[in-house]
Formats: sequence, structure tokens, C-alpha cells
Amino acid sequence: MTSAQESTPPDGTTPVLVTGFDAARRMLSERRTSKVLDAAAMGLSPELGDAMLRMILFLDPPDHTRLRRMVSAAFSAAHIEALRPRIERVAAGLLDAMDGPETLDLIEVYAWPLPLQVICDLLGVPTDSREEFRAWTAIVAGGAAREHERPAQLTRLLGVIRGMIADQRVHPGDGLLTDLIAVREEQDRLSDGELTSMVFALLVGGHESTASLIGNGVFRLLEDRERWNRLRAEPGLLPTAIEEFVRFDSPLATTTYRAAAETFEFDGRTIAAGTPIGISLAQANRDQSRFPRADRLEMDRVENPHLGFGHGTHYCLGAPLARMEAQVAFAALMNRYPDLDLAVPVGELTWRSDFMRTLPSLPVRPRGTRPN
Ligand code: HEM
Repeated sequence: MTSAQESTPPDGTTPVLVTGFDAARRMLSERRTSKVLDAAAMGLSPELGDAMLRMILFLDPPDHTRLRRMVSAAFSAAHIEALRPRIERVAAGLLDAMDGPETLDLIEVYAWPLPLQVICDLLGVPTDSREEFRAWTAIVAGGAAREHERPAQLTRLLGVIRGMIADQRVHPGDGLLTDLIAVREEQDRLSDGELTSMVFALLVGGHESTASLIGNGVFRLLEDRERWNRLRAEPGLLPTAIEEFVRFDSPLATTTYRAAAETFEFDGRTIAAGTPIGISLAQANRDQSRFPRADRLEMDRVENPHLGFGHGTHYCLGAPLARMEAQVAFAALMNRYPDLDLAVPVGELTWRSDFMRTLPSLPVRPRGTRPN
């Protein structure tokens, strides 16, 4: 498998796409790359550009190091574990609402709303803004057809986020945003701009990827009913099964923006300063030289150093939360609807495979019986 190859240039410069596991891992921690965006070149308004530029995902050390250190406690595995009952309540509410119709789109009623409601709950988004949040995150997440709506909608989203920060400064809540507001390190604390960008990053980074993990995983369980039955019989397999779903159908198929900060040699080729660099996590995670039987989904794969959550400096901040949400989502669904099955033949489902690997829809029958 090629480790670094050229892909189609979208903008005149020829980006490099790294695909092999070993090269991907090295490139993810390559210090001669930068994640800082050129907001002006992207045509962003100053307000939006500012919010994007302060996002943790688009900072380099030492700015990144400071921010990451300040927010990491709020995202530690122990801190996230304490949120489990709240996530279970969200899942139970969505499963209640699935009781009735013979056929449903699992993405629409479960995989997509679950992480959104969780993040809204954790951030303390006012209940009457939640529907709007749903629309906004769809826009933030992409939807090229709605490109023209983005600037105005995003500006409104930033306004609501600022309002939440101001409100929770005066009336502390019991969620992540209040925790982030309270972070102090010696004389240092997060500014309103940093907090706004952090909330923005959590929405952008945490919603669609987690929804994809849930949707992709449910599909894999139903595609081969033996898997569904096995996981129901052996719920202890859930943690390794979830890692395997992330490896096998990596939700973030290609990494976010990064470019060469200087000209450097990488695996025998020269990468010129400024060259955009993509890393295909999806291909790295199926690299036969790293994963035995890479093209087989094995829910009990114990040694699984996949790169689905990235690696190095920008390793996914929300990984403990995503894992917890997935655990709750799969367990609650299997318990509540043990006969759940696909409502269409496997061959009729279509994947979206751009930088995300995701199923836009997954028709299911909560009470079973798949058509032939
Ligand atoms: C299955 C679900 C998820 C997947 C597959 C995923 C994947 C990733 C990957 C691959 C990166 C690194 C990107 C790069 O280097 O270009 C990343 C970073 C990040 N993720 Fe996730 N993510 C998931 C869920 C979440 C959740 C639930 C949150 C928070 C609510 C979150 C917040 C972030 C943040 C803030 C970063 C940037 C970290 C930094 O720059 O230091 N993610 N994620």
C-alpha cells in the first residue's frame, strides 16, 4: 500500500494523501506540519474566521498545548464516566419515541439525535434552542447544497453560544460548559472567545462522528445477525466491538486540515512548505501489514491500535465521551428492541464516503422481520 501519494488537487496545489498505517501514524505526530488555517483565504467573515482560528483543532503548539492542558480534565475518562446516567436517560427517551411505527430511519431517530442531545445537555443549551441547534450542526457538518445558508446561520449559532456563556457565568450549571468556565490555571483562564470556539469545536467534532459510529455499528450488527446475537449474549465484548467499529468503518475517514509548515522529506519524497496534507484514517485502519485479517470485522479483536480517533497532539479530545455514548447507545438499543432488524435488503443501503464514512439513512424495523 502506498504510504504517501498525490490525490486530485481541489485548489491548484497538489495535496499529499497518506494512506499506510505506519506513515499515517508518523504524519499525525509530524512536528513540521501546521494546522493553522488561513481564514482570509477561506473567505470567512472576521467573526467566523476568529471563531474558527481559535478552535483547538486548528491551533499549533504552544497555543494548542496551553488550551489542551486547560480543558483536558473536563474530558478525562473519570469525569466522563460520571455522565453515564445522563447519557442513559437521553437514550431511553429516544428509544421510547421509537415505540409505534413499523419502520423507522435509525439515523434520524436515534444515531443523529443521541449525541446532539447529549452535547446539548452537557453544555446546558436552552431547551427551546435545541431544534435550531440540530439544524445548525447539520450546516456546520457540511451539506454542500446548503452552503449559502452557512454564514448567517453560523453567526446566529455563535450568538447563542455567547449567550450561554454569559448566562452560565452568572448562573453556574452542572455540565461541561460550567466546568470549562471554571477552569483556572494559576493566573490563566479561558477567555470568552476561547470558550465560544471550544463549544463550536465540540459541536463540530462531536456530533456527526459519533452519530456515524452508532449508525455504522448498528448496521454491522444487523448485516450479520450472528454479530447482533453474540453481542447480546456477551455484553462484555462491547468495548472491543466499539473499537473495531471505529477501525473498520472509520467515521472520520480523512483527517481535518493540516499543511507542511516547512519543506521536508517524508518517505523519500519532498513535501513543499504549504502543501496540504490529508491522512486517510480509513485506509490506515485497514492496512494489512498492521492488522491481521484487516478486512474482517472481529468484535473480539483485542490488539487494535487503530487511528480512528487520530494520534499525537490532536488526538480526539472527545474519545472517552464518544466511547461512552456508543456503549450506552448499543446496549440500550439491544435491550429495548432485541428483534430490531433492517427494513431493506443490505444491497439497497448507500454509504456516504467522502471525508466522513457514514450511512445517511438506515431503515429498520424495531420489532424485526427483514424483507428478502
Ligand atoms: C466516534 C466519534 C469520534 C471520532 C471518530 C472522532 C475523531 C477525531 C479525530 C480523528 C480527531 C483528530 C483530527 C485530526 O488530527 O485532523 C479528532 C479531534 C477532536 N475531536 Fe473527535 N471524534 C469523535 C468524537 C468526538 C466527540 C464526542 C467530541 C467532543 C464532544 C470530539 C471532539 C474533538 C476535538 C475537540 C478534537 C480536537 C482535539 C485537538 O485538536 O487537540 N470528538 N476527533
